[in-house]
Amino acid sequence: MTLSELTDALPINKSKSLCVERLMRVLINSKFFTKLKISEDKEGYWLTPSSNLLLTDESTTNLMPFVLALLDPIFTDPFHHISEWFKNDDTTPFVTRDGRTFWEQTEQDLRFNLLFNESMASDTRLAASVILKDCRHVFEGLKSMMDVGGGTGTMAKAISDAFPGLKCSVLERPNVIAGLEGTANLTFITGDMFDSIPPCADAIFMKLILHDWSDEECVKILKNCKEAIPCKDNGGKLIIIDIVMDNKQRDHEKENNAFMETHILYDVLMMGLTSGRERTEEDWAKLFYEAGFTSYKITNVLGFRSLIEVFP
Ligand SMILES: C[S@@+](CC[C@H](N)C(=O)[O-])C[C@H]1O[C@@H](n2cnc3c(N)ncnc32)[C@H](O)[C@@H]1O
Repeated sequence: MTLSELTDALPINKSKSLCVERLMRVLINSKFFTKLKISEDKEGYWLTPSSNLLLTDESTTNLMPFVLALLDPIFTDPFHHISEWFKNDDTTPFVTRDGRTFWEQTEQDLRFNLLFNESMASDTRLAASVILKDCRHVFEGLKSMMDVGGGTGTMAKAISDAFPGLKCSVLERPNVIAGLEGTANLTFITGDMFDSIPPCADAIFMKLILHDWSDEECVKILKNCKEAIPCKDNGGKLIIIDIVMDNKQRDHEKENNAFMETHILYDVLMMGLTSGRERTEEDWAKLFYEAGFTSYKITNVLGFRSLIEVFP
């Protein structure tokens, strides 16, 4: 698309057309667009892999809801309170912002609850498509699986559709699953993973749960998981999707360096919003053994995130 085609298509005051070109220059520099020669005397803008992820269509690669949530003032404001937070007793900069925790905000603010749940669902649609292509073996042989903190059920639905013999359930807080109906293969259960996890599945799945919580809170969740699943010989295991920082199992130092910026920024995101943090393999192993698990296996499948199987 040429600049004039772009400014004609946008609902903007045409006197500001030149400013669009200045903005596009930034977006080209940050690799969200590229500029191509389309004829002898004409250049046009073209999408890149990054901007393809922001196309608001029905595809599994549409991460627009995730980006919109991350840019919402409720996500960004806490970072303007960091210096105040360093001096006070609040648990997080999020609490310093207006006295509520992140999870209380999702319970009390309907707009934010919907925005956050849809952002997680968009991230999980993409993750599920990768996992079901590259990691089917992780789910083969399982008869039942519970997605603890499974949001609105995107992953559980994708897995139960792909494995019709596998009964899936989602354990979630009431504000997330209110009004959602299951299917023959998918059940929604209201509950709190800190109180107890119902013992109704061989395997427990947790995507982006443990990085939201402190080490003490993680050990509590992991112990509840261990009580809910059968022993290893009877198929019991946890399947965790989370970041492994400074991952020794990655093939190339180059790959580790490429993920480093995302890992350390996610860690600060967790510091701003929750009591959680990102963890190295050593940090993860310590939590698993403290909660009574005996072994684990890390598979690097999802770019900057990893899949960790943990065995009782
Ligand atoms: C970062 S989101 C991840 C959602 C989902 N696993 C995904 O990746 O799309 C964390 C989820 O944990 C849920 N959660 C928070 N506290 C919980 C609790 N005490 N018991 C059960 N779920 C909880 C939240 O409601 C939220 O859906």
